[in-house]
Amino acid sequence: MRVLGIESSCDETAAAVVTEQGRILSDVVRSQVTLHAPFGGVVPELASRDHMRAIVPVVQEALARARLGLEDIDGIAVTHRPGLMGALLVGVQLAKGLAFGADKPLVGVDHLVGHLLASFLHDDTAVATPRFPFAALVVSGGHTSIYRVDAPFAEHIRELGGTRDDAAGEAFDKVAKLLGLGYPGGPIVDRLAAQGDPRAVAVPRPMPGVRSLEMSFSGIKTFIAGHVARAGAPATAQQLADLCASFQSAVVETLVRKTIAAARREQLGTVVIGGGVAANRGLRAAFAKACADKDLDLVVPPPSRCTDNGAMIAYAGALRLARGDRDGLDLGVSTTTVLPRATRRGGGRR
Ligand code: KG4
Ligand code: ZN
Repeated sequence: MRVLGIESSCDETAAAVVTEQGRILSDVVRSQVTLHAPFGGVVPELASRDHMRAIVPVVQEALARARLGLEDIDGIAVTHRPGLMGALLVGVQLAKGLAFGADKPLVGVDHLVGHLLASFLHDDTAVATPRFPFAALVVSGGHTSIYRVDAPFAEHIRELGGTRDDAAGEAFDKVAKLLGLGYPGGPIVDRLAAQGDPRAVAVPRPMPGVRSLEMSFSGIKTFIAGHVARAGAPATAQQLADLCASFQSAVVETLVRKTIAAARREQLGTVVIGGGVAANRGLRAAFAKACADKDLDLVVPPPSRCTDNGAMIAYAGALRLARGDRDGLDLGVSTTTVLPRATRRGGGRR
């Protein structure tokens, strides 16, 4: 089965063709970062308009690179939640039009399920794929949650804990913005942190206990803002690198500690990470060490499959299509995930 996946939930317009075995036949991602950079964050209306301009050429390119026509495709998968409403609608409306026009089955995919399954994607070469059940951290600009994944379908995935406020990627972006580093901040902080001393500034670890799998990142960001207000902006390149390293290690330590605690609590032997922040070198290194220490298998997709892409959507959709799932042309969009939540923003079960 060859499935066309379409992704437009945030600031990447993406399309890919993937088989139900996870083999990527094509993968086209067009980023909007330069459009949003002057604003230091994604501007929803600009995102929608740019998706409108880009989506048809991106889908055409995905088909062309796979050397396939729409008639060769066995189904169409599209991100229909969670995300920016106007942005989601662009992908969903195109997917409906293509499905109707070419008489192909259509399925909507939850973006987070896509991130959770990204580690199953591969090119020609075989990769180590996770075995079910596993613990998975999805950590991006909009989401930071730990899940128990029993099977690759939404009804077999359950949140074990998540952030009560900012997503970790949001904290990276906001800290970068207040340090005047540019957007998106994650990759920039990652680069600078590699040259810095993580013990230079004592950044507090919020909700450090592992009895709760809830997390909080807005306090870390506020601490950095307070530190800059008190001590002044970093005067030298080394001070800047030290501050970035100190901030990053506080975020990374929290993510690693809570994810490992979740795996152990659920008696899961495999840990998977995904989402844009999973591209972070400090996070990848810390997970590698912690999982080796605790004798857990770790599966980490390459950085290009951690950030938003159409391949993960095509794959999640291919599995649904293969078991006979179909959505109608009345498929709706939503700003929230379909996955059951353990943590509400601003509070919830401890
Ligand atoms: O998954 P993604 O592409 O989009 C969302 O669904 O949000 O994640 C984007 C987020 C941004 O906050 C970006 O700063 C962060 O991922 N990010 C990183 C790195 N690369 C991207 N954060 C830390 N280190 C990185 N190397
Ligand atoms: Zn994402």
